[in-house]
Amino acid sequence: MKNTVETLMQMKARGEKISQLTCYDYSIACLLDQAGVDSVLVGDSLGMTMQGYETTLPVTMEEMILYGRSVVRGCKNAFVIMDMPFMSYQVSVEQAVSNGGRLIKETGANGVKLEGGGAVVSQIRALVDSGIPVCAHIGMTPQSVNLFGGFKVQGKGEANAERVLQDALAVQEAGAFMCVLECVPPKLAALITKKTEMITIGIGAGKGCDGQVLVWQDMLGITGFQPKFVKQFGEFGKMITEAFQAYHGEVKSGAFPEEIHTYGKSDCSDEFLKQLDEKY
Ligand code: KIV
Repeated sequence: MKNTVETLMQMKARGEKISQLTCYDYSIACLLDQAGVDSVLVGDSLGMTMQGYETTLPVTMEEMILYGRSVVRGCKNAFVIMDMPFMSYQVSVEQAVSNGGRLIKETGANGVKLEGGGAVVSQIRALVDSGIPVCAHIGMTPQSVNLFGGFKVQGKGEANAERVLQDALAVQEAGAFMCVLECVPPKLAALITKKTEMITIGIGAGKGCDGQVLVWQDMLGITGFQPKFVKQFGEFGKMITEAFQAYHGEVKSGAFPEEIHTYGKSDCSDEFLKQLDEKY
């Protein structure tokens, strides 16, 4: 059954934790969906994991739409959220609604995510008023990497903690049904979860959130990126490299392909093939 805002809110109400993973393509979307993951985020982290940039900043609307469409086709049950890329919503409320609308219309996703607290409440309100479910994203917001001077834990110290809580209350007031808390100290994340009705999704924010999100390549050991908050659920990077090495070696040695990997005998006689050989 397809997850909706309502079914996800029901999970929160009964204390059931919500699983979310990033995803950027059809094949992985099918696997995540079959595994029963509740929600999938087409994160602008694709700029780093799929495109090799150092930050999420260069990602465009067109790229998000291209990746998002493929993910949506693979998600029969998971609730799909599209990240709004850098500068696709900051300029004005009109720009936010127009681009949020495009992400929903052109991918078939179920909601959008945008970064920021108090600064983006008008955008969140206008998106929700247009019928688009919104996931907010506060704490360490990667699109502000240049302002933060790196990817650093946010909400440390009393003044910062209060600011992050105020951001959470502001985005909830504006209508966000879900909020990612990234690299927020765990006690503060638990307090935000207690003080708000939104679904809180933590990444590096401890157990006290309603759910968790990770970048799929990180949790399967593909990227080699392993900060403290990433648990590696498999060493697939190593496995894949070994498989590629084996293939490379077998092609070089001629061990692959074998008879079983080859289509049946030609329906031309050996005599005919000999004639072709002589003719050309
Ligand atoms: O872009 C992304 O993948 C994200 C998650 C890390 C929350 O925003």
